Amino acid sequence: MKLKKNIVELFDEAKTNNSYVKICAPMVRYSKVQFRTLVKNYGTELTFTPMILADSFCQNSKARTNEFSTTTSDSPLIVQFAANNALDFADASKLIYPYADGVDLNCGCPQKWAMKDGYGCALLSKPNLIFNLVREVKNSLSPNFSISVKIRVLDDLKKTINLCQQLEKCGVTFLTVHGRTPQQKTGDSINVAALEEVCKSVQVPVVANGGIKTLQDADTLYNATKCNGVMAASGILTNPALFSGANRTPLSCVKLWQTFKNKDKQKITFQCYHHHLVFMLEKVLTKQQKLVFNHLSTFEDVDEYINKYLYEPESDFNYAYDLDDFLVCDFPDEITLKHSHKCRGCSKSVCYCTCSKYDYDATDGSFFTSYIETKDSSDYMDSNIFNEYDSG
Ligand SMILES: Cc1cc2nc3c(=O)[nH]c(=O)nc-3n(C[C@H](O)[C@H](O)[C@H](O)COP(=O)(O)O)c2cc1C
Repeated sequence: MKLKKNIVELFDEAKTNNSYVKICAPMVRYSKVQFRTLVKNYGTELTFTPMILADSFCQNSKARTNEFSTTTSDSPLIVQFAANNALDFADASKLIYPYADGVDLNCGCPQKWAMKDGYGCALLSKPNLIFNLVREVKNSLSPNFSISVKIRVLDDLKKTINLCQQLEKCGVTFLTVHGRTPQQKTGDSINVAALEEVCKSVQVPVVANGGIKTLQDADTLYNATKCNGVMAASGILTNPALFSGANRTPLSCVKLWQTFKNKDKQKITFQCYHHHLVFMLEKVLTKQQKLVFNHLSTFEDVDEYINKYLYEPESDFNYAYDLDDFLVCDFPDEITLKHSHKCRGCSKSVCYCTCSKYDYDATDGSFFTSYIETKDSSDYMDSNIFNEYDSG
């Protein structure tokens, strides 16, 4: 059985304490269960999965296995879907329902492949479609199950507010607003005034997102906007202990990451393990050390490096949240069979089907290879870190 948390109560509890919910963002490739458990040990109160394509999730068992894994205590958890029609979104939500506390619709992904297929930011120009998707899920699942939408601010503040008010009428549980427009880049400053106006204009909880690198940044954004939650993405990748107040990754956190990897090495790829450490150690290692560390290529070499150069006895840490038993997820045939015949694969930007050019047997998920191959990932990746990673 999986632990469950009512998301409305989570926001209510924070409000009662004159505070806000501290949230780890959906991050393609990165916000997987091991990382979600890690950040919960350092003050994060709500986590999101990476964005999952709803149609592939309904159609293909390999997509379900590769894109989603969870443990008995992986809660509070929101599963984020990219969807462009109500049936896929509603059925993907029904499939995930026993294993999550809510679903989120991605309306903020600016990547070309997503826009081309009508996902992410493309939905922002079709508000009626967003409303249909939300209503469909709202009508088909328990009222305790959270349904949220993640958007970006639009150039026109009135339109942003109108969209949020309409979403509130459709019954969203909460909204996340990234304070940069779809055209803005990762490094651009966020529009705090627009976030404040959005917070004032709706009753449902609003999560503010963008540019959070420290707990102080999060407190400042909360005080400026009176939002109900603050979400961090790139900042929490480089410092998973961000919400605990640490200004850079503590060594205890690196050690705990190792511990979680050791729990079940089959459940984490080397690439995922190493990439996270490259991010986490960004402010910890010297430039010379990074030249070596970023090019290590086996679990053993990475662990040897950490134990030799980074391990300190006091970095042991009594952690509250363990990486508990992985759940074997059961997805009912009555839903999946409805979708299994659909294969638009060859014409799609990202495809899981057997006719695909992507070999989905790769354990690290060819889905993500497409992001890298298209070189269209800069908006979801901290390009500085990747440049450094690439060049050593
Ligand atoms: C590596 C990476 C992956 C991301 N993947 C997703 C995603 O799957 N879904 C989503 O809605 N946003 C995604 N984002 C965007 C973040 O959730 C967030 O909205 C954005 O990075 C702004 O927050 P930040 O300034 O704290 O990084 C991603 C960002 C990064 C850095």
